[in-house]
Amino acid sequence: MSKPKKPKQTKQVPTKQTPSFKPPTAALATHGPELPKIVTSRIGVENSYTLDTFLNTGGYQGLKKALSMTPEAVSEQVMTASLLGRGGAGFPAGRKWSMLGQSPVKYLVVNGDESEPATFKDRMLVENDPHQLIEGTVITAYAIGAVLAFIYIRGEFALALERLQAALNEAYQHGAVGKSIFGSSVSLDIIVQPGAGAYICGEETALLEALEGKRGFPRIKPPYFPAAVGLYGEPTIVNNVETISNIPWIVKNGGAAFRRLGEGNSTGTRLFALSGHVKRPGNYEIEMAKNSFENIIYDSDLGGGILNDHELKAFIPGGVSSPWFGPEHLGLPLSAEAVGQAGSMLGSGSIVVMDHTTCIVRVAWRITRFFHRESCGQCTPCREGAGWLEKILHRIESGAGKEEDLDLLMDVCDNISPGIIWPPAQTTICPLGPSIPPSIASGIKMFRDEFLIHVKEGGCPISDARHSAEVSRV
Ligand SMILES: Cc1cc2nc3c(=O)[nH]c(=O)nc-3n(C[C@H](O)[C@H](O)[C@H](O)COP(=O)(O)O)c2cc1C
Ligand code: SF4
Repeated sequence: MSKPKKPKQTKQVPTKQTPSFKPPTAALATHGPELPKIVTSRIGVENSYTLDTFLNTGGYQGLKKALSMTPEAVSEQVMTASLLGRGGAGFPAGRKWSMLGQSPVKYLVVNGDESEPATFKDRMLVENDPHQLIEGTVITAYAIGAVLAFIYIRGEFALALERLQAALNEAYQHGAVGKSIFGSSVSLDIIVQPGAGAYICGEETALLEALEGKRGFPRIKPPYFPAAVGLYGEPTIVNNVETISNIPWIVKNGGAAFRRLGEGNSTGTRLFALSGHVKRPGNYEIEMAKNSFENIIYDSDLGGGILNDHELKAFIPGGVSSPWFGPEHLGLPLSAEAVGQAGSMLGSGSIVVMDHTTCIVRVAWRITRFFHRESCGQCTPCREGAGWLEKILHRIESGAGKEEDLDLLMDVCDNISPGIIWPPAQTTICPLGPSIPPSIASGIKMFRDEFLIHVKEGGCPISDARHSAEVSRV
């Protein structure tokens, strides 16, 4: 595969840090002066979250334009844009909208749960540009004919919730939400719902259960899509915060303008959350497919290279559910197709970089521990398998592992996701189960010797004081 061309010039925009937004600290960049910023255009602008700033920077123009169009024409623009969902599965938004069942009562639900480790883009969008999200929500609700919209935000996002609610109050007063929006015959109410702190409530059917006031259990399929049977049994569209935040720009500039960015089905820009051993961790909005992993990790206006000029050992390309890549994959373009063909996914848009000092067993254990704790417990392979895997990994890391443990790990993974293939097979109600094996299988496939050294030396060869304390605490 040919390496993507690096843009000649890059533009750097300083980020205004919000009080609770600690790391990541890096600036945002579009990576190329000619490229528009779509979802982050107001990040760094003073008081970007207020109505005044929003209106002074073109806010609610997309909604006004949408109201002058038919709902079908708005949907058509989104279909033309080929906007892939930014929540993880990458399903085209326009196609999802077109699958909505017939009913006089339809709902829109915006998913701002964002609880996956190392994923922190939606929070930034809600904290810094809540009106953009509200505008996208009203346009989407108009396009799909929703009678009510919900924005479900992770409960721990206190600042995001505060600013979103304040922005919503402003939007009602401005006439952008509520009865007869901007004097039209269109009305919509939006309800902001804080989550109660469970990762599984990001899974769309668990989220709907939670919204209905029940325990956040993923629903048994079929029906497969909330578009057919969703909230309170009615057709419902669930879309991610970043997906919805793209809608005002698409309506204002046209789907074709969005599609001109990127390549193939990977159109527009995308917000990548870069973390781990890089000099400049942060959220970066860059054009899809035209930049590679090497660009985002090494370019001076993006990741800036590996921390302390260490060597790159491996990286997680699309959230902790995705199979890992090694340095040989750096040249891959950030496109859903290319990454899928190489055996992984862009998933939630989170890229985690690991340098040569990283203990691979420990990383696999920490990720598995997360999934074990967050498993809702409905399915045996997920509930029991995750706990068993965590125990084996902990045993290896703390020096009591056996060589046979490597086969045992793979065997348990195979029972959760048969064949340990990509895309993964599923024996469980929801995709959290098949999200468990990739980090273990990647670790063993890429760094088998490191696992064996742990076994032979009776402990971690890379351990430090913090590391040992963390392992022994468990
Ligand atoms: C365990 C699990 C957690 C998820 N968490 C989120 C989340 O926090 N935010 C999100 O948008 N999608 C999450 N998803 C994906 C949603 O189920 C759904 O596909 C997405 O919200 C659809 O929006 P999109 O089409 O705009 O991407 C999760 C999926 C699973 C299986
Ligand atoms: S796969 Fe895991 S999280 Fe998903 S429904 Fe089953 S037990 Fe719950």
